[in-house]
Amino acid sequence: MSCASRHLYRYHVLDEPEVSDAEYDRLFDELKALEEEHPDLITPDSPTQRVGAPPSDRFRKVEHLTPMGSLEKVTDDESLFKWADDLRKRLDSDEPVAYVLEPKIDGLAVNLTYENGLLTRGATRGDGVQGEDVTVNLRTIPSIPLRMHGDDAPSVVEARGEVYMPLSGFRELNERIAELGQKLAPNPRNAAAGSLRQKDSSITASRPLAIWAYGLGLAEGLALETHWDELEWLREHGFRTNPFAERLETIEEVAKRCTDWERRRAELDYEIDGIVIKVDSLEQQRILGALHSRPRWARAFKWAPMTAQTKLLKIAIRVGRTGALNPWAMLEPVQVGGVTVSRATLHNEEDINRKDIREGDLVIVQRAGDVIPQIVGPAGRHAKGTKPFRMPKKCPLCGANIVKPEGEAMHRCPNRACPSRGLETLINWVQGPADIEGVGEQLMRRLWELGLVRSLPGLYRLTKEQLLELDGFADKSASSAIEAIEHSKRTPFSRVLLGLNIPDVGWVTAQSLARHFGSVDKLAAATQEEIVEVEGIGPERAEAIAEWFSDEENRRLVEELKALGLRFEAGAEERPVEGPLTGSTYVITGTLESFSRDEARQALEAKGAKVGDSVSKKTAGVVAGESPGSKLAKAEQLGVPVLDEAALKDLLAG
Ligand code: IVH
Repeated sequence: MSCASRHLYRYHVLDEPEVSDAEYDRLFDELKALEEEHPDLITPDSPTQRVGAPPSDRFRKVEHLTPMGSLEKVTDDESLFKWADDLRKRLDSDEPVAYVLEPKIDGLAVNLTYENGLLTRGATRGDGVQGEDVTVNLRTIPSIPLRMHGDDAPSVVEARGEVYMPLSGFRELNERIAELGQKLAPNPRNAAAGSLRQKDSSITASRPLAIWAYGLGLAEGLALETHWDELEWLREHGFRTNPFAERLETIEEVAKRCTDWERRRAELDYEIDGIVIKVDSLEQQRILGALHSRPRWARAFKWAPMTAQTKLLKIAIRVGRTGALNPWAMLEPVQVGGVTVSRATLHNEEDINRKDIREGDLVIVQRAGDVIPQIVGPAGRHAKGTKPFRMPKKCPLCGANIVKPEGEAMHRCPNRACPSRGLETLINWVQGPADIEGVGEQLMRRLWELGLVRSLPGLYRLTKEQLLELDGFADKSASSAIEAIEHSKRTPFSRVLLGLNIPDVGWVTAQSLARHFGSVDKLAAATQEEIVEVEGIGPERAEAIAEWFSDEENRRLVEELKALGLRFEAGAEERPVEGPLTGSTYVITGTLESFSRDEARQALEAKGAKVGDSVSKKTAGVVAGESPGSKLAKAEQLGVPVLDEAALKDLLAG
């Protein structure tokens, strides 16, 4: 394998690049120059040979060596269990049945034929018997090996998989399309299919396509016993197989995982529309056979799609606690991925206009990457009479003139007394840093509207008598709310810092500041230069922090809260501890069984470790509990070690 091929493989298949993109480009150019000088050295699997075939007018029909079936679906546990029962009856043996689960990628199936290890043909599924020959286009996809690894390839073998477009690539592609004023791709699957059917393979090459290989077609001469072996065989021979595939021993576990995945799918950078469940044993598969080209040994557990179209009723504005104007979309309620969606975030004016969406438009809504739905773009032409969106000139709450600071994307209300800022700060405080039980957004809104609480100090002056005047409060509930508020005065210093709403101070920064300075007095007295010394804080943020503390009104706020009894000194829990894990940073995701996330954080910190918010190459490990977030995928992508609860306990035990 050439050097460039190896790096292409490491980057696109293993996701473990060894060299920078620039270094790869250099190697590629070097290879190209060498081949130009010595054309006799060019091999068909050279990375230079991925693009360059002349455009074709139409795709030839080709027959697959073995037909490509399709999957019968199940949509709930009941039909899943019924299937498992049926399997047992048909197999009529004591042999246990094990299953392999794989994400059902929402792309398009392709069949790759390798002869003596070399990719000779790639075709779409078509009707399962005949597909279209799209070899030249498939060759441009970097995660498809042009030559299989190893020297034990059978003379002919068919590898099968799903070609798809990652969501990040899909969004970028649509942004490019929008800039050209052309019609957007409605979803990633369409975009992948369109990209693969380009007449000019250099266009396909410019699209961010990838493959997950999920099985073999014709595989004569391979002595494999299970589907799991097939996946391993594919992996060993240079194919990209999905890291989330797993083998399970019981149908109950299968059902549980299918339910888990419906929630987790939003964390992936590609769309899945279900889980494919396959009987693992190839012998059992053979006995079970197929019905109308649908194997009895496999099922697709399917969910509702993750994109939908609906009407954008109105673009509303919410003024955040930093004064930023956050536009959001009021949508005609629509089902997306099994959830009713009636609102979506819209980042800022620029973003709205780049996506070219207007009030009254039919838009494409997507739930992906996170739980908050996004608007991809208009579903077609603009509705008649619609206008491009403009931010209001005046704050919708206080009427102050809106400003847009140079170089910033956000519009802001400059009025520090603007009601929204105080209210949002309060809501954030009770739900986030102070986490006051039984005191939430609804109550804060009511207290604000009645003028009973208009600031953080105001919250701590609230009385039980005042609460009793509110509808829905009785003696007991009012007492417990006041008690909970009182109790929150014990909120640790770092959390108090987080709640003060200092620009750009998030959880990790607040903690670093609390540790470094130890008290608010020292922090407030620190210069920008002194703040820069805190790990992870750059000069700009340091300046913003110093500026915040030099403001008279902010100082008064701190003094007032101090007088009310809130903590402005770091407690023991915030002091860094020297221990066996000093110098390493861990990230926690998902729900752990025997610890809360906070407890796990404290336990790690007690051993000297830091606990961060985001995964990077420097992260020593990611502790993943039940239903982990996208951080797990990120860790897997970067090759950061993943610890389950048992491994965490071992680590803590030293
Ligand atoms: S196995 C006999 N595995 O689902 C069918 N299919 O309706 C064997 N798909 O056309 C297919 N991810 O496009 C299989 N991990 C996976 C899959 C998968 C997506 C698609 C494929 C196929 C359709 C079946």
